[in-house]
Amino acid sequence: MAQKQNLAVLGAQWGDEGKGKIVDLLCEDFDVVARYQGGHNAGHTVKFADRHFALRLIPSGILHPGKLCLLGNGMVIDPKALLDEIEQLRAAGAVIDENLKISETAHVILPVHKAIDLAREEAAGDAKIGTTGRGIGPAYEMKVSRHGVLMGELLDEAVLRRKVEAACREKNSILTGFYGKPAHDAGAIIDEYLRYGEIFRSRITDVTLLAHAQIKAGKRVMFEGAQGTLLDVDHGTYPFVTSSNTVVGGICTGLGVPPKQIHEVMGVVKAYTTRVGSGPFPTELLDDVGDRVRTRGNEFGTVTGRPRRIGWLDLVVLRTAIMLNGIDSIALTKLDVLDDFDEIPVCTEYALADGTARHYPRSAVAHGTYKPTYKTLKGWKSSTIGIRSYEELPQAARDYVRFVEDELECRVSIVSTGPRREETVVR
Ligand code: GDP
Ligand code: IMO
Ligand code: MG
Repeated sequence: MAQKQNLAVLGAQWGDEGKGKIVDLLCEDFDVVARYQGGHNAGHTVKFADRHFALRLIPSGILHPGKLCLLGNGMVIDPKALLDEIEQLRAAGAVIDENLKISETAHVILPVHKAIDLAREEAAGDAKIGTTGRGIGPAYEMKVSRHGVLMGELLDEAVLRRKVEAACREKNSILTGFYGKPAHDAGAIIDEYLRYGEIFRSRITDVTLLAHAQIKAGKRVMFEGAQGTLLDVDHGTYPFVTSSNTVVGGICTGLGVPPKQIHEVMGVVKAYTTRVGSGPFPTELLDDVGDRVRTRGNEFGTVTGRPRRIGWLDLVVLRTAIMLNGIDSIALTKLDVLDDFDEIPVCTEYALADGTARHYPRSAVAHGTYKPTYKTLKGWKSSTIGIRSYEELPQAARDYVRFVEDELECRVSIVSTGPRREETVVR
């Protein structure tokens, strides 16, 4: 069968599914890797040999020489965070020159966005979203309110000055008047951001045109999702979501690439479930079993270090993700984390007051009128760490994979058995 040209790799749960590892693994066969939404709320881990990288804004493809990496218009970019990331990657030996381009219409995160994000969370107390505190939400708000600063405007002093002054006037009044927080000095921000403009000048361009030119030339593009499907602002567990479209449609708006150029969609699925921050989590484990998974899986945030909430695999969530994204195949990660359990429950559907739900029943979950139904599978009780061939997986582990495939009617094409690139079964 002919290889399909362009591939989307995106999270099917609440983020941290292992997208970075999978993008890095598949990268070799692609020419371009593009991010299309989110910002440095993402933390994508890539490990190979004894190397360890945590990527936040830059596509995971940057570690492969010769790949063109794009930051799409749908992203929100903190230029300071981007600069730090470039410097860290360079210090670790990555080559970052003409291979990294930034959309001129991606939106800029300003210090006032971060301050509002933090102040709002603090004021919300127990009702907080549990954001990463990076200013993501407030930057997207300003985009949608049509007052946002574009990356391209870092190159236009008059426009930048006018917009940052206006943003600071408005946001400072909220920060000081409403939240009792200090104001930010527009002049200092403008000076700092003009410097970033100079630093990034050669990278800031029409990324949409660039992506289309690459596709037209027959180059293969991988679209790297950030966050996960259930964190999508429209289709996720609102309001406990991020502020962008994490579903496949985000590629069309966040890069300007039409749906017919997305030839295949791979959903990255952790073999159990995690989520960071607040919000519903139907299969959550609040007991010592959850603690065991957290420890074995090292489930602490790449970006914030926060302990991740843990639960069993939830097929209701995954059916919804497959439906929303048109997922063609699954990369099942962190199977090795389950090596040690006698039994592994998997949630197959939710019992409702008047029937069952096989897709995520938003209102029943919001009202607490549902109960996850589990099928308990047998654990394999032996190490799968680093296994690279499907046949070498213990029978019970293959049964687990098979069960997931049958229930979801979707092929598991990759099984990940460790954090490193080489610790992978490709079927
Ligand atoms: P992302 O945000 O989807 O890229 O995922 P993160 O990098 O935030 O979190 C995934 C974590 O699991 C990282 O620490 C990875 O190194 C690690 N990881 C990825 N795949 C595997 C796997 O198959 N087994 C184990 N044990 N760890 C994995
Ligand atoms: P990757 O790409 C997991 C969560 C936050 C919070 C909510 C809103 O590494 O999978 P935000 O700062 O975006 O306004 O926070 O979204 N969140 C993530 N959770 N992985 C991520 O990214 C996340 N990015 C944001 O914890 O609940
Ligand atoms: Mg992550």
